[in-house]
Amino acid sequence: MSAGALRLDVLTIFPDYLQPLGLSLIGRAREQGLLDLRVHDLRDFTHDRHRTVDDTPYGGGAGMVMRPEPWGEALDHVLADPPPAAAPDGVPHLIVPGPGGAPFTQAMARELAAEPWIAFACGRYEGIDERVYDEARERMPVSVVSLGDYVLNGGEVAVLAMVEAIARLIPGVIGNADSLVEESHEDGLLEYPVYTKPPLWRGRGIPEVLLSGHHGRIARWRRDEAFRRTALHRPDLIERCEASGFDKKDREMLSILGWSPSPDGRFWRRPEAVEE
Ligand code: 6GU
Repeated sequence: MSAGALRLDVLTIFPDYLQPLGLSLIGRAREQGLLDLRVHDLRDFTHDRHRTVDDTPYGGGAGMVMRPEPWGEALDHVLADPPPAAAPDGVPHLIVPGPGGAPFTQAMARELAAEPWIAFACGRYEGIDERVYDEARERMPVSVVSLGDYVLNGGEVAVLAMVEAIARLIPGVIGNADSLVEESHEDGLLEYPVYTKPPLWRGRGIPEVLLSGHHGRIARWRRDEAFRRTALHRPDLIERCEASGFDKKDREMLSILGWSPSPDGRFWRRPEAVEE
C-alpha cells in the first residue's frame, strides 16, 4: 500500500454488504494502492456463544439497541493498528451513518477525500448505545452523517455511497480528471443533458447547437439547460447562490424561468416566492 493511500475502516455486522467495494473503479483503486480499505465484522468483538450485538432498550419501546461492548472493543482494535503516516493525531475521523446526521454533500466528500484516515461505524436496529459516541468523541473526531430524508435499515448502503463519492475524488482513481469538474453539484448546478451517436434515434435528433462546433454557444446552451433543470428539481440550490456568482446570460436565463433578484440584489428568489 502506498504511503499516501486513504485508509478506510468499516465496522459492520454485515461485511458482505461491502463486497461491491471490490468492483470497478474502487476495486482497482485498492489494487493500485490508492485506497486501503479494511472491513471488520463487529461480531468478532463479542464473547458469547451467540455473538450477540443487540439488546432491549432501557426505558422500553420497540426494537433493539446495539450494545456498547462490541463497539468499544472494535474501535479499540481499529485504533490499535499503526496509523497511516499522514494521520497527524494517529486517529481516524469516525463517521456514523444515520438519518439523524448532518447531510452528506459533495463539499463533505471533498473534505473527507483530503483526510488520511476515516472509520465508518455501521449501526443497525434502533441505533448504537449513546455511550459509544460519548467515549469515541473523547478519542477522535466523530460525525453523524445522513444521505437524505429517508430511512435505511442500516449504515452499510450509506457507506457504499459515501466511499464511492469520496474515493472517486482521490487523484488517480478516475482516469480523466476533467470529468470530475463537469458534474452535478461541482459548480452548484445539476448536470446538463448529454447525447451521443446515432444522430437520429427512433425519430429523435440532437439539439442543433451541439452539432455546430461552436464551443462558446455549446457551453452557453449547456449552462442554460443546467439552470433549467436546477430551477425545476432543486430551486433550493439556486436560492443558496450569491447573485454575484451569475453572469449576465445566467441572469437572463433565470428571468426567463421566472426568477427575480432579492430586494438587496444578493440572491435570486424563486417564482412562488415572488407572488407572496
Ligand atoms: Cl447515512 N443511514 C441510515 N441508516 N439511514 C439513512 C441514512 C444513513 N441516510 C438516510 N437514511
